[in-house]
Amino acid sequence: MRSLLFVPGDSERKLEKGFSSEADVVIVDLEDSVSAQNKAAARATAADFLRARLGRDGPAVYVRVNDLSTGLTDDDLAALVPAMPAGIMLPKSNGGADVQRLAVKLRVHEAENGLPDGSIAILPIITETAAGVLAAASYAGASPRLAGLTWGAEDLSAAIGARATRDERGVYTDVFRLARTMTLLAAAAAEVAAIDTVFPNFRDMEGFRRECEEAERDGFTGKMAIHPAQVPVINEAFTPSPEAVAHAKAVVEAFHEAGNPGVVALEGQMYDRPHLRRAERLLARAKSAGILART
Ligand code: COA
Ligand code: MG
Repeated sequence: MRSLLFVPGDSERKLEKGFSSEADVVIVDLEDSVSAQNKAAARATAADFLRARLGRDGPAVYVRVNDLSTGLTDDDLAALVPAMPAGIMLPKSNGGADVQRLAVKLRVHEAENGLPDGSIAILPIITETAAGVLAAASYAGASPRLAGLTWGAEDLSAAIGARATRDERGVYTDVFRLARTMTLLAAAAAEVAAIDTVFPNFRDMEGFRRECEEAERDGFTGKMAIHPAQVPVINEAFTPSPEAVAHAKAVVEAFHEAGNPGVVALEGQMYDRPHLRRAERLLARAKSAGILART
């Protein structure tokens, strides 16, 4: 899961475009990109579209439902679970308990549709409410369905009354940097993927590339996109380079050949257990990106 492209669920044209992109995941949106009066139409459009392409190759499907406080979530699930999405994105999640509430609902919908229990994953957006940011630690162990954690700045700014999310240089202000950091820590504690948030200025490709590189540097393993042009940039930034893969292999081999000690030397550098763990994580990412044979 490197690139996750949002597509408004009520636009057949964009659904078509989204699924012909190189995104790892298309997030079919029923929430913020669909107006209140268009919710029912979006469910029908998205469900018809997804059912028609069942069994086809291409990006995995996640559906972003409306949050649990709206009263719309059940109708979203009833309409879209029959189209067998790989996962549900839960916006405005307030903590692990919200993931568990969604898991209970999914269990019912899976049973009604003859799908295996637990087959649909959950990807919550964990920083769209103040309570959610403060509860970031509660995702660890919340549900085996948890596929990752991601974050959002816009809804949080509305929730706390901030006029902007970034300063005049374009750098996130403290509260949003905290939300981003909490997402990284919560994902590591829950042992799931950390997915970076969207970059709304889709014409600024240079700024976007920089943000992708910083996210990858800091430990995110993927990023959400709002425009198809962002997808190749994400895939490139989050696919380990051949040099990085070669180096990680050399580190793993050095430990193996030395009989798995605590520390080894390689090209005049010290490598101890955290370096080994880092090398192993990078190789796992290379494998799931398909650039290394799966073993
Ligand atoms: N998924 C699929 N196709 C998309 C797309 C997306 N997210 N964003 C743009 N496209 C398509 C457009 O329909 C257009 O195709 P066309 O020429 O066949 O009509 C093409 O890509 C080029 O689009 P462009 O003209 O550059 O942008 P736009 O002005 O049409 O759209 C947005 C701009 C922001 C409205 C659009 O990118 C979008 O809807 N993004 C997703 C919004 C969303 O889901 N938000 C919720 C999460 S934050
Ligand atoms: Mg939102």
